[in-house]
Amino acid sequence: MPVLGFGTLIPDADVTTSATRDALQAGFRHFDCAERYRNEQEVGEALRAGLAAEGLAREDIFVTTKLWNTNHRPERVEPAFEASLARLKLNYLDLYLIHTPYAFQPGDDQDPRDQNGNILYDHGVTLLETWRAMENLVDRGKCRAIGLSDVTLAGLVPIYESARIKPAVVQVESHPYLPENELLEFCKDNDMLFLAFAPLGHGMRPGPLEDPAVSAIAARVGKTPAQVLLAWAVQRGTALLTTPKTAARARENLDISALPVEAFDEINRIQTRQRFNEVVKTGSPGFIPQGS
Ligand SMILES: NC(=O)c1ccc[n+]([C@@H]2O[C@H](COP(=O)([O-])OP(=O)(O)OC[C@H]3O[C@@H](n4cnc5c(N)ncnc54)[C@H](OP(=O)(O)O)[C@@H]3O)[C@@H](O)[C@H]2O)c1
Repeated sequence: MPVLGFGTLIPDADVTTSATRDALQAGFRHFDCAERYRNEQEVGEALRAGLAAEGLAREDIFVTTKLWNTNHRPERVEPAFEASLARLKLNYLDLYLIHTPYAFQPGDDQDPRDQNGNILYDHGVTLLETWRAMENLVDRGKCRAIGLSDVTLAGLVPIYESARIKPAVVQVESHPYLPENELLEFCKDNDMLFLAFAPLGHGMRPGPLEDPAVSAIAARVGKTPAQVLLAWAVQRGTALLTTPKTAARARENLDISALPVEAFDEINRIQTRQRFNEVVKTGSPGFIPQGS
């Protein structure tokens, strides 16, 4: 899996198309999608056109998508997977993730709620039952690897221990304000790749992009704060996803180089702790605009 990934959590359809094309042209070869982002169609079209324009083959890129919370029932897993594949216009996936460990009431409504606005969870299925259906997809040759997203270490361990096919990737929010060191160590010790989303703190300000230590290091090494944060993520042994929406930002986010050891250590010493996305606590996605 290419360490630098392009994330497709982009609410606007036209921006999804242009940003995906720009990312491919700039050199991104890893694309992170999700049924829940409701733009797999646009991503699929942009990738198909982009591969042809760049003279690339399907095997030259790594594509991930994710099973949404309303499809955790084992009998819903393969149909959801096939629907994603059709929208993406692909005949296999490199990686399929369970988007969150929370099962929602099955159905077409991605955000089922009661009249008081409370999420309707599905208590009739366990994460392990969903995982077994994911394993079947690998057995049938439909996807090359499977993994989990938005899990805590406590949630990951029982699945890891019971899995016949171990999770290959764990995708969670991570940046200097949320290093998730214990989870990272567990992944490293057990041959799972830790894939960081929101490595720039989702661009929120104040946030890691404006952290004084990061800004000072950026000035010292002649890079932007974003490049420093991405370099730090790679240097600590994680893969990462960013969402550049312009060609210039796509090039910027790929143009990273190793930090001097003292700079790397200085970022490790940042004490601020902040989670930007609460999805890990409820399964309700934090960065998706309300109502979509
Ligand atoms: N599993 C999950 O639950 C989950 C949750 C969230 C995200 N994800 C995945 O992870 C991907 C990345 O997450 P993210 O979008 O939060 O990542 P991010 O790269 O930390 O944040 C994106 C924000 O950073 C800004 N940005 C990008 N490049 C920049 C640069 N060079 N300098 C300054 N600002 C820059 C963008 O600004 P502009 O808008 O101005 O371009 C955007 O607002 C998503 O697309 C999605 O695929 C997964």
